[in-house]
Amino acid sequence: MRPNLVAANWKMNGSRADNQRWLQEFRAAPAHCETVVCPPFVYLQDLVQGLVGTAASVGAQNMSDRVAGAWTGEVAAEMLIDSGASWVILGHSERRAAYGESNEIVAAKVERALAAGLKPILCVGETLEQREQGRTQQVVAEQLQVVLQRCPAAQLLAGAIAYEPVWAIGTGRTATPQQAQAVHAAIRSQLAAQDPGAAVAMRLLYGGSVKPANARELFSQPDIDGGLIGGASLVAADFVAICAAAAR
Ligand code: 13P
Repeated sequence: MRPNLVAANWKMNGSRADNQRWLQEFRAAPAHCETVVCPPFVYLQDLVQGLVGTAASVGAQNMSDRVAGAWTGEVAAEMLIDSGASWVILGHSERRAAYGESNEIVAAKVERALAAGLKPILCVGETLEQREQGRTQQVVAEQLQVVLQRCPAAQLLAGAIAYEPVWAIGTGRTATPQQAQAVHAAIRSQLAAQDPGAAVAMRLLYGGSVKPANARELFSQPDIDGGLIGGASLVAADFVAICAAAAR
């Protein structure tokens, strides 16, 4: 059985004081499933130190598609590893929409992350307009296909894929377990067309308004192997409760 994975995406939230309070609460009730915490870049090392002795890993929320050099304001994959991160979220819809990250840029980032030894969490998902036009599966398949052309599924297996419908992110409007399961099953079949073994082993996370109250039902779907948690991950007790819902 695929072990569930729950990742916290703090987005642009937190402060050193808030993070220490979060760590204190998290450490008092450690999660019972595989866990990754992704703070803003500047807090990576604090989190790495604060999570020593727990089973949780640390990840970044983005990285450059370039190797180190004259790229002002960018952060290279190797720097993340040097800071103690082992995961990186790539292709989040907020980066696609607000920072113009195309499928090609996302694919280049995934390739760089894998080459450096980071585990990518590749995010895919449709907007509300695309869903209403009946284009969900097409949009998600295209986002994944561009990555699969550069990085075979067997390599992506080092990380995970997160389905995050844009209309469910930060809106309180979660996809129903059936809606999420349908897209997860389609992603798994797409992977299977390239590599059946990798498709069976790939962890597919759901993200979009996951809360302690809805996590268990989502995670009980056959093709949902954990979650990528935004708002609820900022409250340590809620994140721990979501991780508990993912414990098998
Ligand atoms: P929310 O859990 O706040 O809806 O955010 C989901 C998300 O974007 C995680 O990457």
